[in-house]
Amino acid sequence: MTNLNLLIRDVPDFPKPGVVFKDIGPLLADPTGFAACITALATPWRGTAIDAVCGIESRGFIFGAAMALELKTGFVPLRKVGKLPPPIVGIDYDLEYGSARLEIGAQGLPRGARVLLVDDVLATGGTLEAGRRLLETIGAEIVGAGVVIEIDALAGRRRWPVAVPLRALLHC
Ligand code: PRP
Ligand code: MG
Repeated sequence: MTNLNLLIRDVPDFPKPGVVFKDIGPLLADPTGFAACITALATPWRGTAIDAVCGIESRGFIFGAAMALELKTGFVPLRKVGKLPPPIVGIDYDLEYGSARLEIGAQGLPRGARVLLVDDVLATGGTLEAGRRLLETIGAEIVGAGVVIEIDALAGRRRWPVAVPLRALLHC
């Protein structure tokens, strides 16, 4: 059994001093590890009715698209500002320093679609929260969320509703 923790590289002081960057590059490059990661991410959701996996740009695309294939669902991207053609729906959200915006194609999901939200890392939780709020805005039903890595010390989970399953593969 592959130890996925060994395939995540800690990079101190990137992208800025004091931050430890979680580099998923070795995990993606390892054929056994990447496959095991996607299987482990997808397995708990088998048997749950899901219409689409929604991945958050950029690294959420990698895991979300692979999970969609595993779960035999569609894939709908939540994109950073200015990437999608109209019509779109967007949401602004605050980052630790500054702000950002996520957008989705307005016709990407019918109201009531059951979706699974996916990203690579849960840190402060702001990105996942923005994704959830955007999906709620368009009337999607969020059945849960999945991330590869949850950074427990940053307590991002507090920003996620306790009633909605949020599954993390690895904790650090
Ligand atoms: C990173 C990471 C998550 C987010 C987590 O994305 O991929 O999406 O930060 O941080 P949070 O929980 O504090 O919001 P980022 O936009 O920095 O880079 P990316 O485009 O490479 O995914
Ligand atoms: Mg990201």
